[in-house]
Amino acid sequence: MVERTTDCFSCLGDTRLLILGIETSCDETAASVIENGKHIRSNVVSTQIDIHKKFGGVVPELASRAHVELISHVIWEALEKADCKLSELNAVAVTNSPGLANALLVGTETAKALSFSLRIPLIAVNHIHAHLYANFMEHSSIICPTVGLIISGGHTAVFYMKDCNNYVLLGQTYDDAAGEALDKVAKMLNLGYPGGPIISKMAEKGSSKAINFPRAFLGKDVYNFSFSGMKTAVARYLECNSYKNLADVNDIYVNDICAEFQQSVIDVLIKKIVGAAEQKNVETILIGGGVSANTEFRKQLSEICKKKGMNLFFPSLKLCTDNAAMIAGLAYHRYKEGKFESLSLDIHPQLQCDRLS
Ligand code: KG4
Ligand code: ZN
Repeated sequence: MVERTTDCFSCLGDTRLLILGIETSCDETAASVIENGKHIRSNVVSTQIDIHKKFGGVVPELASRAHVELISHVIWEALEKADCKLSELNAVAVTNSPGLANALLVGTETAKALSFSLRIPLIAVNHIHAHLYANFMEHSSIICPTVGLIISGGHTAVFYMKDCNNYVLLGQTYDDAAGEALDKVAKMLNLGYPGGPIISKMAEKGSSKAINFPRAFLGKDVYNFSFSGMKTAVARYLECNSYKNLADVNDIYVNDICAEFQQSVIDVLIKKIVGAAEQKNVETILIGGGVSANTEFRKQLSEICKKKGMNLFFPSLKLCTDNAAMIAGLAYHRYKEGKFESLSLDIHPQLQCDRLS
């Protein structure tokens, strides 16, 4: 019999803990001050979309340079908005995994400098776990254990979570992440960057019934994903139908491609996470990461969970995409466990299967 818990904050006492979170794993420079793992005193995010959009994707070297320029401004703004002095901070937390190596280094080295100069603990947080943790900051009725699906531009993975501080990886993508596949298909169609929200808008006007793209389900009780072939099917389709010059392709046609490709991604995501919940015998599903902002995905998964009597939680839009509030939030639980890092803390660009955050 699995023990079910409702309050991941109950054992943590009344002391006020202020943690500064820093996030620079991809193309958002973010800092946030969080009180007791939940209360958002500030949440500052500086996005680099304008820098990368002309390339149709994130350029790692440009991302890390922009983080260097922005990081101290973003941290000062977060402290100011939180009405918090540096001397009031109890700890500094940072994303050190996974992400772009040089981008992770900017945040990690900044956090080390603050930890050293302020003589406060340094806490390392896994970005992917933090995306799922965002749910616990906004919803107090989550019953653990749960399964969680993280769908972002860099990662797609399924976790089993005994509580808000325990993450066991059940499966992940072999190749492209869900968001990455959406971004790449949008690039093929000359639609702009980031592709997910644009595809979502165009899909509203199209029909997923007009075309038939493949789904890579990879078998029952397998929680890995492969979006690369699904993405390539769109490229082959465009080639085979001689639509090389997209200026000649009418809007209705592109809307239908968007609708069907989005639906193929949604079908795989829903099958995997609902299957994981059933196999693990849990009643609660948590979703996190930028793609969870997708309206059609939310609608379809909500309907299925309702039918199956499962509880489903998404973070609000501001905590779906990259932010540092989720980093400082999860760090609170690490603080309570005394899981502090030395100044030799390293970065881990890959999502590590055997490491807890
Ligand atoms: O979690 P996130 O902000 O950054 C990463 O850690 O990658 O996710 C960014 C991804 C991008 O691929 C973007 O296209 C996708 O999330 N995205 C969406 C939507 N909003 C953002 N995908 C589908 N529908 C959306 N509404
Ligand atoms: Zn992310």
